[in-house]
Amino acid sequence: MAVWAISTNKGGVLKTSITTNLAGVFSKKHKILIVDTDNQGNVALSFGKNPDDYEYTIYDVLVEDVKAEDAIFNVYKNIDVIPANDDMAFFEFDVLNNSNYKNPFSLLKNKILDLKDQYDYILIDTPPNMGLVQGNVLSCSDQVIIPFQPESYSMRSLLKILKAIEDFKNQHNPNLNILGVVATLVDLRTILHSEVLQECRKYCMNHDIKVFDTIIPRSVRFASSIAYDGLPASLTDHTNQLVASYYELAKEITNG
Ligand SMILES: Nc1ncnc2c1ncn2[C@@H]1O[C@H](COP(=O)(O)OP(=O)(O)OP(=O)(O)O)[C@@H](O)[C@H]1O
Ligand SMILES: [Mg+2]
Repeated sequence: MAVWAISTNKGGVLKTSITTNLAGVFSKKHKILIVDTDNQGNVALSFGKNPDDYEYTIYDVLVEDVKAEDAIFNVYKNIDVIPANDDMAFFEFDVLNNSNYKNPFSLLKNKILDLKDQYDYILIDTPPNMGLVQGNVLSCSDQVIIPFQPESYSMRSLLKILKAIEDFKNQHNPNLNILGVVATLVDLRTILHSEVLQECRKYCMNHDIKVFDTIIPRSVRFASSIAYDGLPASLTDHTNQLVASYYELAKEITNG
């Protein structure tokens, strides 16, 4: 039983896709909880559900004293979700505006740790910024997966996020480790992508950080064909390079 965060400050780099697709692969043999902490509510949407249809969301668990158990909804065999919706857009404001919260980074941890025994993996999808939500997620996670899209300036922000996680570990959660960096939206025929990816692998090797061999390819065609099924790609009947990449990533992760 482990708690994994899929985190980076970047938007649109497949955090939600990795979260839901790994859940899809792992659910064949394991019991999974996905916690959505992003106000976009994309985890529920990935399973064809409307995040506004749920009685309780992660916001109620964190701020309204609702029990985590009461905000868990089953979306697929072996996959439960604590959904998020637009309410989470107010989380930071509401918490920072209330001086009763003595330790604003530990709100999620206090709620989620009780659930650990019920699941093999708890996967946490995060918003694309480093704020109070991300701090809560990193406080209760054992491992972080960092999606990395190799573009012109992306090495600079990778170094920043790696440092931020290291600092956070030292200050708040000594159990936190980086499971690995996964390159996303990659087109290896593009020289820039190959060069930046090579630079990333070199930097990480020198700093003892794992970069997964598996890359998640950019594929607008596969991504859009899959989007209509109302399920993560790894739970559909599609067989293509994109689906295969999530199975390879899961295999690489579990084989250490
Ligand atoms: N392999 C792919 N190739 C191209 N586009 C993809 C691929 N996989 C997913 N997409 C699309 O890319 C967009 C971003 O993906 P996703 O939502 O997983 O990123 P994210 O990091 O969670 O974004 P956000 O920061 O907004 O939460 C989505 O519209 C998704 O459908
Ligand atoms: Mg997302």
